[in-house]
Amino acid sequence: MEKKTLRIGVVGLGQIAQMEWLPYLHELGEYTLCALCDVSSSLVKQMAKLWNVPGMYTDWREMLKNERLDALVVLTINHTEICVAAAEAGLHLLIEKPLCDNLEQAELIRQAVVENHVTLMIGEMKRYDPGYLLGRNLIRNMKGLKLIRFRDYCDGLRRSQDEIMQVQIASDVPELLREKNAREHREAMIQLTGGRDPALVETLLMGGVHDVDLLRDICGEPEKVDYCDIWNHGADLLAHMTVKNGARAVLEVGKTQHKWFDEEIIAYGEEATVSIRFPNPYLKNAPTRVVIKEHSGTGYQERELTVSYDEAFRRELLHFYDCVVNKKLPDTCIEEGTADIRLIQRIFSAYRQGGKEEIE
Ligand SMILES: NC(=O)c1ccc[n+]([C@@H]2O[C@H](COP(=O)([O-])OP(=O)(O)OC[C@H]3O[C@@H](n4cnc5c(N)ncnc54)[C@H](O)[C@@H]3O)[C@@H](O)[C@H]2O)c1
Repeated sequence: MEKKTLRIGVVGLGQIAQMEWLPYLHELGEYTLCALCDVSSSLVKQMAKLWNVPGMYTDWREMLKNERLDALVVLTINHTEICVAAAEAGLHLLIEKPLCDNLEQAELIRQAVVENHVTLMIGEMKRYDPGYLLGRNLIRNMKGLKLIRFRDYCDGLRRSQDEIMQVQIASDVPELLREKNAREHREAMIQLTGGRDPALVETLLMGGVHDVDLLRDICGEPEKVDYCDIWNHGADLLAHMTVKNGARAVLEVGKTQHKWFDEEIIAYGEEATVSIRFPNPYLKNAPTRVVIKEHSGTGYQERELTVSYDEAFRRELLHFYDCVVNKKLPDTCIEEGTADIRLIQRIFSAYRQGGKEEIE
């Protein structure tokens, strides 16, 4: 029997679309790229020509009306309105992280997804990274976990980006629309912070959400957010949490202009230390390294494991295909994305309380 290919539309043709999604959607036999949409018409034309895509749109509503699609890949910053309309049109959804900007939006998306029986997967690509999966399982099974640190000090990707790939920047996006998008994003974050400065959660929501998601994946929901400090107008954050079996988790997230990539999970157990070291995600096929330190005789040994050169972005696309075709729940389903936003809200609530979480 011939394998079904999913007919795909993509909304948002910016950095991440050009660096990761369009090349893999084009390469994988599981998908047919049918239509592209961006508010920048020049970007739509360039990308449609580059990837040989017939459908070109500057309005996603027109795309939903005119095209016969199975699924929509959403790569904009504000996803809610697009996701709700696409789910109501019966399309499966693969959307870039974060799911949205607050819990109210998450609920709107959830209702549309449930009522229309479509699959929604969040592009938390690190959850499909083979090196991460090995390290995660080692940590989940490690004896006597005491402390686990999640460090992400690497927002300087734009500094290395030009050497990796020349991304086409849209110069014809109407200023009013740009302002409207930014305003909506800001207002949604104000709601997340209970009326406080949205800049205080932006770094955590846009970049640190990867680490919040991995923390939950490895440790489960934290029992308590003990402490949170945010400084440099939201550019840096440190949070301390109590997780399963009384272990402590520390989250360190910061915006830097460093060219180097600095994202690592380190777990300290009774008998071993396990580190998961992530590479710059735009370096294609660069493996995530897992380093284990443990006792050996009277000394100790350090081993580094490389599991695979496979790409997390490619693997998440294969997982999405499997979930849609075989009606499975994605590992990064809507409940997971919602739980990430809920934890971000808890972390911020701890900050608001002068460091400590409010206990309901
Ligand atoms: N997984 C990762 O590591 C990773 C890395 C970077 C970005 N992201 C996520 O990807 C998403 C996009 O980020 P980016 O860096 O590519 O942003 P970007 O600003 O470079 O691109 C967004 C594109 O969407 C277009 N757009 C905005 N609103 C639109 C609308 N209503 N209709 C059609 N087009 C619209 C813009 O014109 C722009 O071209 C964000 O959710 C971000 O968090 C994920």
